[in-house]
Amino acid sequence: MSRGRLIVLEGGEGAGKSTNARFIEAWLRQRGRKTQLTREPGGAPLAEAIRELVLHWHGQMPAQTELLLMFAARAAHLQKTILPALLADTDVICDRFVDSTYAYQGAGRGMPSEHIASLEAMVLGELKPDLVIVFDLDPAAGMARVKKRGGENRFEAEQGAFQQRVREAFLERARRQPERYAILDADRALEAVQQDLARILEERL
Ligand code: TYD
Repeated sequence: MSRGRLIVLEGGEGAGKSTNARFIEAWLRQRGRKTQLTREPGGAPLAEAIRELVLHWHGQMPAQTELLLMFAARAAHLQKTILPALLADTDVICDRFVDSTYAYQGAGRGMPSEHIASLEAMVLGELKPDLVIVFDLDPAAGMARVKKRGGENRFEAEQGAFQQRVREAFLERARRQPERYAILDADRALEAVQQDLARILEERL
């Protein structure tokens, strides 16, 4: 029985992931694939409720609480949305996934990566994305795009040093596993980014 593929878009704030997720979806559909577009945190009703909490809680939030909420949301997303789709031979395009947790809660907030790895093993088991595309962008440029859009979340409100650690974490993870990751320079006009993106999809999928 054939299984759908899990394609993940990652990167810092304002890197254009959402627009490009729709581009990937169109690309796959043109090739006759069934697709499911989804996002994290969120992507299932309970997970979307957790998203609201973790992105917009006004008080202080312990880093452990934040980390556990990310995985709590992910567990619901996996059971309700991702696994059923993959089993139905549908390709899943996910705007952020577990690499965001290593980048934001790990590198950003300083949570030990061994703890993240244990939660990853508990929630994901053997599941790994088939392809992770990292949209790489200077955080200053990304934040300028976010400011224009308005309505900052708790992570977008973090300072430059935090965003820089997040960027480095994505790049480091991508460099360690080149067979599963692709890095894309997102600091260009959308057409140029999408030309590269199409090439990556041709080569990897
Ligand atoms: P994002 O996907 O950028 O949403 P939008 O641009 O549509 O508002 O917002 C999700 C935020 O959640 C982003 O700031 C990064 C953060 N995040 C984590 O900190 N850890 C995670 O594991 C995930 C999936 C996201």
